[in-house]
Amino acid sequence: MSEGSGPHLSVTDSRSGETAELAITDGTIRATDLLGLKDPESGSGLRSYDPAFMNTAACRSAVTYLDGEAGVLQYRGYPIEQLAEHSTYLEVAYLLIHGELPTPDQLSNWTHEVTTHTFVHENLKSFIQGFRYDAHPMGMLLASVGALSTFYPDAIEIHDQEIRRSHVVRLISKMPTLAAFAYRHNRGMPYVYPDNDLSYPGNFLSMVYKIAELKYQPDPRLERALDVLFILHADHEQNCSTSAVRAVGSSQVDPYSAVAAGVAALYGPLHGGANEAVLRMLRRIGSKDRVADFIDGVKAGNERLMGFGHRVYKNYDPRAKIIKKACDDVFEVTGVSPLLEIAVELEKIALEDDYFISRKLYPNVDFYSGLIYESLGMPAEMFPVMFAIPRTSGWIAQWLEMVDDPEQKIARPRQIYTGQRDLNYAPIDAR
Ligand code: CMC
Repeated sequence: MSEGSGPHLSVTDSRSGETAELAITDGTIRATDLLGLKDPESGSGLRSYDPAFMNTAACRSAVTYLDGEAGVLQYRGYPIEQLAEHSTYLEVAYLLIHGELPTPDQLSNWTHEVTTHTFVHENLKSFIQGFRYDAHPMGMLLASVGALSTFYPDAIEIHDQEIRRSHVVRLISKMPTLAAFAYRHNRGMPYVYPDNDLSYPGNFLSMVYKIAELKYQPDPRLERALDVLFILHADHEQNCSTSAVRAVGSSQVDPYSAVAAGVAALYGPLHGGANEAVLRMLRRIGSKDRVADFIDGVKAGNERLMGFGHRVYKNYDPRAKIIKKACDDVFEVTGVSPLLEIAVELEKIALEDDYFISRKLYPNVDFYSGLIYESLGMPAEMFPVMFAIPRTSGWIAQWLEMVDDPEQKIARPRQIYTGQRDLNYAPIDAR
């Protein structure tokens, strides 16, 4: 229980009449301060109950700033719009991980380091080859990034700065390689080794699409559009997968295993799968003239308008605006997707409709991203993989912050026990 003259919250437990003064710091009270109020029956301290962590700050973080009401997203203080316009994914990864934009030398060293660690051990290739032909690529990515820990046993030394850095670089470098191998595996196509002359997104496109040409030359417009998508997906503060990385990492496991936990969380349809649902919805609507009927169905509560609404954003998701622009650039190369005019019409009608306005439902990052991935030739199962590749830098930045935070301990929430107690064991023939 905190006392003192600073800002505080006075609470009285009506059961016992006990009063506590809870210090308010950074707009929050400390849940552990409640422990000073004793439960009159059990004598244990008062707890807070917050399933899904709807109103619990689990850490202090200086990585990503998000204001959902205003529709603001910033990495290390830099607005996402400026980064998407002027930066590259590798520079953004540096920014997230190191906290500052690199100097020209730092960027060149970082790019060199990442680019020269893109190859994976040949046994990892065999490992992926062992999956069924139709294995979900996200399942393959999850398993193979976890398996990386067995190739680098020293990765467990997370407090050794030099060792730690070498694995941070490896994770950023190798995720696209594992992702592309998983893609090729589904197609029964030979895996393509990294091409270290190409940019980060260019190399990924090469590993995915190269056939018999001696050198794959990515279209610069597609390469840039993919880089922008990677920038937009790099971090999003304490979302489900980042919280998973932090929780698992808090046991001081190696970063490959912690990132595997992030991939597992992103595998879930409520997190990494919404853009696939948008695409299915657009296909089902089928044509622009059926949009109004579809919207009526949504308003009647028959289904949701996928790609709209967000737990935190109660305004236009700033990433959605940028993605819409990237769509135009991609379609210039690939030809316009017939689904685009349905999406545009949906957005237009929804943004003018009181049902959506009054509930503050705006397009989110997933509304247009599926259309881009589809135009790039990605099957829907690859969509969460395309999310996991860039999110790796955010996961690592958050993991590093946690490892160095003296306030962090192993994650260990409490519970409200609702089961039976003190039963007597009955032998099987007496039940
Ligand atoms: N279409 C129609 N109605 C909606 C929608 C939607 N997409 N989203 C919310 N609502 C309504 C909902 O029915 C409720 O109405 P009422 O008050 O009359 O009951 C109200 O808006 C509040 O909804 P909620 O479910 O309490 O809001 P939430 O914050 O729990 O849900 C959400 C957020 C993203 C799960 C939800 O908006 C949704 O299901 N959207 C569609 C799926 C989607 O696009 N998900 C991607 C999210 S962005 C990915 C990321 O950043 O990781």
